[in-house]
Amino acid sequence: MSRTNRPVISATGLFTPPESISNEELVASYNAYVRQYNAENAAQIAKDEVKPLELSSVEFIEKASGIKARHVMAKAPLLDPEIMAPRWEERGNDELSIMAEIGVKAAQQALKAAGREPGEVDAVLCAASNMERAYPAMAIEIQQALGIDGFGFDINVACSSATFGIQTAADFIRSGNARSVLVVSPEITSGHLNWRDRDSHFIFGDVATAVLVEDAAIAPPQHWEILGTKLKTVFSNNIRNNFGFLNRAHPESAGSADKLFVQEGRKVFKEVVPMVASMILAEADRLEIEPNSLRRLWLHQANAGMNRMIAHRVLGHEADENESPTVLDTYGNTSSAGSIIAFHLHKDDLKAGDTGLICSFGAGYSAGTVFVRKAA
Ligand code: COA
Repeated sequence: MSRTNRPVISATGLFTPPESISNEELVASYNAYVRQYNAENAAQIAKDEVKPLELSSVEFIEKASGIKARHVMAKAPLLDPEIMAPRWEERGNDELSIMAEIGVKAAQQALKAAGREPGEVDAVLCAASNMERAYPAMAIEIQQALGIDGFGFDINVACSSATFGIQTAADFIRSGNARSVLVVSPEITSGHLNWRDRDSHFIFGDVATAVLVEDAAIAPPQHWEILGTKLKTVFSNNIRNNFGFLNRAHPESAGSADKLFVQEGRKVFKEVVPMVASMILAEADRLEIEPNSLRRLWLHQANAGMNRMIAHRVLGHEADENESPTVLDTYGNTSSAGSIIAFHLHKDDLKAGDTGLICSFGAGYSAGTVFVRKAA
């Protein structure tokens, strides 16, 4: 089969968990936990030995983040003040694991949209913030479930996992090592979120996305040319999760809050906005694209204020919903899947020749840009 070694996005897929938690439901559960905690610790609180917990608020959450609701894989245990963590039946080794299951659903949608048979795909990359187990790689299980011959491996660069996956897939196409690569991002972020932490309990949601990156020679006529990809990482402790296989070396701190997502949100905001805006502008310059000619920005979905500022710096004016669509209002922060959900849901109205940008940013710090142009 012919090759051009020119990578394109042939299709995307999205799995949205049916259950969703509104801010009202989330805050009611959190505040019930706070009241219970403060009542149970009333004596120590009165003696100043324990700090009372403060109530959360719907107004704060929406104003600070733009998030109104989030989809989750299992709503009841997350809202139960006695649990406030995900719970479902443990699956046996002969059953499809839960990350693989939702990844497969998103991937099948992308394959169907492209008219691609699994046997024609060369590789699967599972690009996500958290992997369900150490090994075998999630990607290999997804590959097997889809019936793909070839190879698969996992990529973890937190919120930038999907764009790092897209560049990796694009490089396979550019080098001729593959013609069709699935980048699958199952993000079950309810597992790393501390639902008892007032500063962050509202941030994340669960979802799975898939991006089919292919050689233009075999892509369906309706595809998106990848004009250029750029990745960047700068070490920072401002978003961190210390969960890992060596935690058992320190059993005394095994259950502590740092084994879940923690962040200095204000610092992240201040440091990441300028880093990402200047990275986008430099890459646009390299690709000889006028930033204000970009028809649409599909930005990482962590915070509405951050996206407003980044879009303003890139376009030179306040972006409207058409130029920089929001999905975090109903999905929350879905880590690496966020910009892909935005692209999946808000790309079909663009015309042939329109240019846009998929951009991620998050823990690491990490950031990735994928400039795309609609072919037909
Ligand atoms: N309900 C009510 N009040 C709350 C609250 C809650 N759930 N959580 C915090 N507050 C209060 C704080 O106590 C603080 O009060 P004070 O000013 O009296 O001390 C005030 O709200 C401001 O808190 P702060 O954490 O500084 O809020 P913020 O405006 O920076 O918003 C984030 C918090 C996390 C939403 C925001 O910083 C953010 O999104 N940053 C970027 C994060 C990001 O992109 N992360 C990437 C993750 S992958």
